[in-house]
Amino acid sequence: MDLSVLVVEERERPVWEKARNYLKRKKLKLFSASSVKETYKILNREPVNIVLSDFNLKNINSLNFLKKIKTLRPDVEIIFLSERVPLSRAMEAMKAGAYDFYEFPINMKLLMTVIEKAAEKQTLYIEKMKLEKKFKERVNYGNIIGRSKAMQYVIDIVDSVASKNVNILITGETGTGKEMIANAIHYNSSRALKPYVKVNCAVFNEGILESELFGHEKGAFTGAAARRLGRFELANGGTIFLDEIADLPLGTQIKLLRILQEKEFERVGGNETIKVDVRVIAATNRDLRRLIDEGRFRDDLYYRLNVVKIELPALRERKEDFPLLASYFINKLNEEKGYKIKGISKDAMQTLLSYQWPGNVRELENALESAMALAKKDFIDASYLPAFLLMSEPEHSDCYRISNNLTLSEVERELIRLTLNKTNGNKTAAAKALGIGLRSLHRKIKEIKTPAP
Ligand SMILES: Nc1ncnc2c1ncn2[C@@H]1O[C@H](COP(=O)(O)OP(=O)(O)O)[C@@H](O)[C@H]1O
Ligand SMILES: [Mg+2]
Repeated sequence: MDLSVLVVEERERPVWEKARNYLKRKKLKLFSASSVKETYKILNREPVNIVLSDFNLKNINSLNFLKKIKTLRPDVEIIFLSERVPLSRAMEAMKAGAYDFYEFPINMKLLMTVIEKAAEKQTLYIEKMKLEKKFKERVNYGNIIGRSKAMQYVIDIVDSVASKNVNILITGETGTGKEMIANAIHYNSSRALKPYVKVNCAVFNEGILESELFGHEKGAFTGAAARRLGRFELANGGTIFLDEIADLPLGTQIKLLRILQEKEFERVGGNETIKVDVRVIAATNRDLRRLIDEGRFRDDLYYRLNVVKIELPALRERKEDFPLLASYFINKLNEEKGYKIKGISKDAMQTLLSYQWPGNVRELENALESAMALAKKDFIDASYLPAFLLMSEPEHSDCYRISNNLTLSEVERELIRLTLNKTNGNKTAAAKALGIGLRSLHRKIKEIKTPAP
């Protein structure tokens, strides 16, 4: 670990020289300040871990000095060195948050141990702050980005239903934030500290899904070597999130309906009736009413699930949120991946705005992440964005129109745009659809990005 120590040498003392030499030899990074003011300046600017200071300062009470440092940088630990002081004053300083108090003469080896311990405490403090921030983000709606009317409306509903014990159906295209909203509801409900269990109904076949949801008894089927608790039992007292609910087979739908109505079920292969208290949040990107018309979804189940419906807007329908979302993801990725991107160029923003975003917020985050990884400057410029964005079709045209005044190469370019958009930017699939080789597609894309003068 790189340790940085700031030595406050307001008074000249031989010990500072000695301490600096010693700490340097121990490969610590050293800063020194000759006044209180300079101390604050350095703390604002540099990654200092520990402050080493005289307890007797010239113009400021050392307790006030300590408090000021703790407000500026709550993570920094302070070690005071001093001549004899009354025990009561030393105690006061410790109570106010000083890490240690140390009387002259100083034993350097001992001082080094104290510094190392203080650094450990600082690391713990930083970890704790990170966790608290994460928890707060989950509990607040701070991580749901959107100032648009449509998103504010969603947040309002979340706010009013979270604490009520009703089932909720969340609908919206893929990547619009259905799971994020479900999380916000659970963590803002009275069940927040109880289990939160998620099941994706699309990834299992009927048999496996039922044993996932309801559990099974030993010997219920070949391979059922022991009793297994289902997700509903595991979620007892808390919330279950049923994702992709449209994929629930009809047989399983009846069993789910029974849980919603009677709050009871049996494990697969079992006779014992089990009672549970579980709040259900379901999500889908399909139109359940249509599935009901087609006989693939039970309407009674639909009404039970759909006590409150939250419809998430597609990203392209809330363009005013783009700048906010872009800066949110840029900050988030800077923090997570250590990038130092400061912003996004006008051109790039224009490109983001004119794309249709079938994958919604998830797709936007991925596009920004890839641009940030490629960026050679400290901002995202259109040329770093994935190719399929640069070629997105004009807004609101879902059919291809050729106007009379296009040149052959313009037609070609439109066709490539459209095809890449259809394949979500998958070049292999696009090349296949266009009947050309992948390499010629790459060449054509390159020509489009850098048109001949
Ligand atoms: N309004 C939003 N603000 C911030 N992040 C969002 C927003 N909507 C979606 N996301 C992020 O986009 C990604 C996809 O969201 P998710 O909830 O998994 O979508 P869905 O379940 O609808 O497919 C997640 O990383 C999520 O945090
Ligand atoms: Mg999802």
